[in-house]
Amino acid sequence: MAAKILDGKALSAEVKRTVGLRVDALKERGIVPGLAVILVGNDPASEIYVRNKGKGCEECGMYSRTIRLEEMTTQLQLEEEIERLNADPAIHGILVQLPLPRHLDEAAALKKILPQKDVDGFHLMNAGALMNGAEGVVPCTPKGALYMIHSTGETLSGREAVVIGRSNIVGKPMAMLLMREDCTVTVCHSKTKDLSEHTRKADILVSAVGKAGFVTADMVKPGAIVIDVGINRVDGKVCGDVAFNEVKDVAGWITPVPGGVGRMTIAMLMSNTVDAAERIVSGER
Ligand code: GUN
Repeated sequence: MAAKILDGKALSAEVKRTVGLRVDALKERGIVPGLAVILVGNDPASEIYVRNKGKGCEECGMYSRTIRLEEMTTQLQLEEEIERLNADPAIHGILVQLPLPRHLDEAAALKKILPQKDVDGFHLMNAGALMNGAEGVVPCTPKGALYMIHSTGETLSGREAVVIGRSNIVGKPMAMLLMREDCTVTVCHSKTKDLSEHTRKADILVSAVGKAGFVTADMVKPGAIVIDVGINRVDGKVCGDVAFNEVKDVAGWITPVPGGVGRMTIAMLMSNTVDAAERIVSGER
């Protein structure tokens, strides 16, 4: 039986519609939610992501500003730019596009962003809040992936979830979110032995590896929800981590690439930005 497709285009449109309404409500009070994206260097993939973030803001009626810094920017220059945006009342959300050039200290830069403007949810305060089940900003990609999982209508409590990848951006926060849903969560990574042993037990399988065709049909439990976070380029074509054509015949639900999680990441960034604007306006920290 062919899996049902989790349509990122339709689901992200749903999220952005709601965000747009909240933006309109803020505008009636004279506030235009604003997102600033800092891009250091000329990584072509980052260029595309940043452009899509700008487009997302436009669609939702938000203000967006892209700050382009040259490849050889110093740590001090980057942190001064972040400080300026922290103090700028027109900016409610700040995002530093990753990866940064190798000479820059990513963790130190992220720490400079005011936690309430940290729309990526990468500041230690927000990461800690997610870990503790406290209020905070949830990273966009796992938040979008969870939205897609919820859209299946399936019960999550007590289900086996397997996350492949343990990055701070996707794997770790994804695992936290699934734990919060009362799933039994296994995090697999490059040193995991017998990966298939784990993945074949997964009712929910999330792959964030960055290797085209990494998840094959024999690794998937029949009927599973398969969420493909990978964005890979093969012969100029974008594809995910999941061998879509074969896995779709085994899974119950599957996300395509393109048109899957990537769209949700942008929608959740818009959502986190309007959240930040509402919080700042209401004087919450
Ligand atoms: N690079 C790849 N994914 C992301 C993301 O979600 N946020 C930022 N800031 N950089 C990224």
